[in-house]
Amino acid sequence: MNEFVFYNPTKLIFGKDQVEMLTKLVPQYGKKVLLVYGGGSIKRNGLYDKVTSKLKEVGAEVSELSGVEPNPRISTVRKGVDICKENGIDFILAVGGGSVIDCTKAIAAGAKYDGDAWDLVIKKASAEEALPFGTVLTIAATGSEMNAGSVITNWETNEKYGWGSPVTFPQFSILDPQNTFTLPKNQTIYGMVDMMSHVFEQYFNNAENTPLQDRLCESTLITVMETAPKLLDDLENYELRETILYSGTIALNGMLQMGYRGDWATHNIEHAVSAVYDIPHAGGLAILFPNWMKHNLKVNPSRFAQLAVRVFGVDAAGKSDEEIGLEGIEKLREFWKGLGAPSRLADYDIDDSQLEVIADKAMVNGEFGNFTKLNREDVLSILQESL
Ligand code: NZQ
Ligand code: ZN
Repeated sequence: MNEFVFYNPTKLIFGKDQVEMLTKLVPQYGKKVLLVYGGGSIKRNGLYDKVTSKLKEVGAEVSELSGVEPNPRISTVRKGVDICKENGIDFILAVGGGSVIDCTKAIAAGAKYDGDAWDLVIKKASAEEALPFGTVLTIAATGSEMNAGSVITNWETNEKYGWGSPVTFPQFSILDPQNTFTLPKNQTIYGMVDMMSHVFEQYFNNAENTPLQDRLCESTLITVMETAPKLLDDLENYELRETILYSGTIALNGMLQMGYRGDWATHNIEHAVSAVYDIPHAGGLAILFPNWMKHNLKVNPSRFAQLAVRVFGVDAAGKSDEEIGLEGIEKLREFWKGLGAPSRLADYDIDDSQLEVIADKAMVNGEFGNFTKLNREDVLSILQESL
C-alpha cells in the first residue's frame, strides 16, 4: 500500500422516508436556501413537493435554480452563483443526480469566489471556501453525494473537466431508495455502468499488497452484477434499488481507494468525448472501458486475470494470464451489452470525423493514467477501436 489520508466529512443518511430529516438538518445552516434541481423529474414524481413542504415547515426562505442539464454547464453554475450572491444564500440543497450535485458544488464554491467559477473548474484558482450544501439523491451512479468531485462542461469551448476541493464535500446526503423508483430503465443501466467503471478505475492501480482493497472492489462489482438484471425487470423493487444505491456510494466515496491511486484514464477520455458530443457519461464509459482494458492488458496480465477469475468466473485451467484476462474483458462487454448499454460510438452516431479533436482534448494536460500512462497515439487507438 502507499501512504494515505482518508477524509470524508459527509453525513450519509440512508433509508426509507429519510427526507423527513431535512427539518432537523437545514436549520443548522441558516434560513436562506437555494434549491437546485434538474429538468423536472422531481416535479413529476412528487419529491419536489415533499422537499419544499419540509423547507416550508422550518420557515426557510427558498430561491430556486431549476433546469440543471445532464452534463451540467458552467452557464448554469454562473446563474446559481448570481442567485447566491444577490440573495445572501446561507445553504444550498441539491435534489437530483450527479449533474445537479456537481453543479451545486461549483455554485457553492463559486459563491465564495470573486472571479468566474470556471477558474475553479480549470484550476486557475483553487476553492478555499464554499457555501454549505446538502443533497437528496435521486439516482445511483456517480458517488457525487459522498465525494468532493464535480464535473462541469463549458459548451462554448467544448471542454468538460473534473475538479474538486476539500471544501466541496456535501454536509449531508439523504439516500432513500424510493426516490430512485422512477428512474427510467436506460438511466438505471447508465448508473450501474458508471459505478462499475468507478470500481475498475480504482482496481487498476500500481500499488502492491492491496488484498483487502481488491476484495472490496471485487465484491462491489459482483454485487452490482448480481443485482442489475433483477432490478431491470423490477424497477420499483425496494431491496434491489437499495443495494444499487448503496453500491454507487461505496464505489466512489474514497472507501475503495485507500492506499493507492486509481487509474482514471477512461474517465478522462470519456469526458473528452462528451465535451464534443453531448452523450450520457456512462454510455461513453460502456463503449470505452473494454477497449482501454484490451489496450492495456499487457501492462499487468495477472491483474486482469485476477479480475476475470474472481468476478467474471473465467475458468483459468490451461490458459495464460493474457488469455484469461481477455476472456474477462469479453465477458464484461457481453454483460453490459446484455443490460442494454451501448458498445460502439456508432450507437450514438459518432464517426471518426472528430477523433483527433477528442484526443487533443483528452491530452490537454499531457500524458495521463496511473495504471499506465497514455499518450495521444494510445488515446486515438482506443477511440478507433470504439467506433
Ligand atoms: O434532470 P431531471 O429531470 O432530474 O432528469 C434526470 C436526468 O435526465 C434523470 N433522473 C435523475 N433522477 C431521476 C431521474 N428521472 C426520473 N426519476 C429519478 N429519480 O436522469 C437523468 C440523468 O441525471 P444525471 O444527474 O445527469 O445523472 P448522473 O447521476 O449519472 O450524473 C452524470 C454527471 O455526473 C458526472 C458525469 O460526467 C455527468 O456530468 N460525474 C460526476 C462524478 C462525481 N462528481 O464524482 C463522477 C462521475 O464519474 C461522473 O463523471
Ligand atoms: Zn463516472
